[in-house]
Amino acid sequence: MENPEGDKKSSSSEKKPYTIQPSSSSIEQTSNSSFIKKLKLTGRSLVVFYGSQTGTAEEFAGRLAKEGARYKMKGMVADPKECDMADLVEMKEIQKSLAIFCIATYGEGNPTDNAMDFYDWLQNGNVDLKGLNYAVFGLGNKTYENYNRISIYVDKRLEELGATRVHEIGIGDDDAK
Ligand SMILES: Cc1cc2nc3c(=O)[nH]c(=O)nc-3n(C[C@H](O)[C@H](O)[C@H](O)COP(=O)(O)O)c2cc1C
Repeated sequence: MENPEGDKKSSSSEKKPYTIQPSSSSIEQTSNSSFIKKLKLTGRSLVVFYGSQTGTAEEFAGRLAKEGARYKMKGMVADPKECDMADLVEMKEIQKSLAIFCIATYGEGNPTDNAMDFYDWLQNGNVDLKGLNYAVFGLGNKTYENYNRISIYVDKRLEELGATRVHEIGIGDDDAK
């Protein structure tokens, strides 16, 4: 029987096979949680993590990541909640690498929501962070009893776990005039 449209449009045998592909590749998905893979793949050596509730620490983290360029360090910002923080043990595999932690304190001296898991991991973990270079910048307010408690803890704990403090902790007071 003749083609009812009477033309030479493609027959089914000419049609290209069509398969539904996932919207993002598995590599992209992995690199979301694995900051270390992202650092390695993009030639970066600086990662700035932030523990932030209302955005101040996140903004500081962004500024610090950009500042890295002055020291020939390509930087990136990372949310600890989105990262597998156990990968910190692999930072030593990246030459002259540095992890900075911009950490705010809340409430009765608690971590921000996005740094809660990291805080628990630091407390419970028995990991060897030898070879990890780090610095901590704390955000807090002197009018609170537990002034900068979390950043001070993170700074102390990272050293206990064997990491190398490359700069003394910076303590920020947003009540300072
Ligand atoms: C409800 C509330 C509770 C806070 N509790 C503390 C605290 O216990 N200790 C402290 O040093 N700062 C405390 N702060 C100050 C914050 O840590 C500070 O404003 C910080 O810059 C907020 O950072 P973020 O915008 O990244 O969340 C508190 C602030 C608020 C609004």
